[in-house]
Amino acid sequence: MADWNPESYLHYADERSRPFVELLARVPGTPRTVVDLGCGPGHLAEALRHRWPGTDVLGVDSSPAMIERARRDDPGGRYVLADLRTFEPPAPVDLVVSNATLQWVPGHRALLPRLTSMVAAGGSFAFSVPGNHDAPSHVTLREVAGRDRYREATGSAARPGGFDAEQYLGDLARPGWRVDAWETTYVHVLQGEDPVYAWIAATGARPVLDALPEALRPSFVADLQEALRAAYPTHPYGTPLAFRRVFAVATRV
Ligand SMILES: C[S@@+](CC[C@H](N)C(=O)[O-])C[C@H]1O[C@@H](n2cnc3c(N)ncnc32)[C@H](O)[C@@H]1O
Repeated sequence: MADWNPESYLHYADERSRPFVELLARVPGTPRTVVDLGCGPGHLAEALRHRWPGTDVLGVDSSPAMIERARRDDPGGRYVLADLRTFEPPAPVDLVVSNATLQWVPGHRALLPRLTSMVAAGGSFAFSVPGNHDAPSHVTLREVAGRDRYREATGSAARPGGFDAEQYLGDLARPGWRVDAWETTYVHVLQGEDPVYAWIAATGARPVLDALPEALRPSFVADLQEALRAAYPTHPYGTPLAFRRVFAVATRV
C-alpha cells in the first residue's frame, strides 16, 4: 500500500482530533510518560502537552511520511519510525495511547495483552477506533469497488476493521484492571465540494484507491463521488457526516 499523505489527512485535523481529546479526558491521574502508537503527523502531541504540560511523549508510527511530517511540525517532540506490532518501550510507561490506528492492524485484539503489558503500575492503555464500517460512506465504497469494472483491481485491498465497545471491554477486563469502554457518534458538518469523498480518500478508502490502476482511478473517483453525494446530501450549512467512534480506557488498579 502507498504511504499516507499527511497533507490530506490533516485537512480535517479538527474533527479527527476531537475523539483523541475526549479519550484523554477519561484517563485518570497525570501520566508523566506516554507512548502514542500510530501517532500520525504529530498534531496530537500538542493536545497531550496541553493536557499534561511537561509530560514526556514518544510518538510511534510505521509511515515514513507521517514521521517526517511530525518531526518537521513538532521539532520539540520525540518520534520513532516503528511498527506497533513489534515496538517495545525501554520501560513501562504511564500511558499507552492509540487513536484511530488499531483498525489498520489486522488481528489487533490479539495484541491487546502485549500493549497493556507496556503500562506501568497505576497507568492506562487508552485507544479509540472508528466504528463506521457499516456507515453509508463505507457501504458506498464497497458497493462502487464491487462493480464489474473495479472488482478485480480492488478485491484484495485492505479493509480497516474495528469492534464494539463491549467486545474490547471483554478483552481488557481482567483482575487488576478497571475498564471504561463507550461509543460516541459525532455529526461532523463538512464544508466544500465532495467533502465525504475527501474525508474517506485520506483514510478508509486509501487502500482501494491505491489498488486501482491509473487508467481506472479517475472513473472510480467520479463514480464514488457521485454515489457519496447521493448518500450524503449537502445543505446550506454543509454536509453532515455521522461518524461513530469506539473508545476504551483500561487502567491498572
Ligand atoms: C488514521 S491515522 C491516525 C493518526 C493519529 N493517531 C490521529 O488520531 O490523527 C493512522 C496512523 O496509524 C499508523 N499505523 C497504521 N498501522 C500501523 C502499525 N502497524 N504500526 C504503527 N503505526 C501504524 C499510520 O501510519 C497512520 O499514521
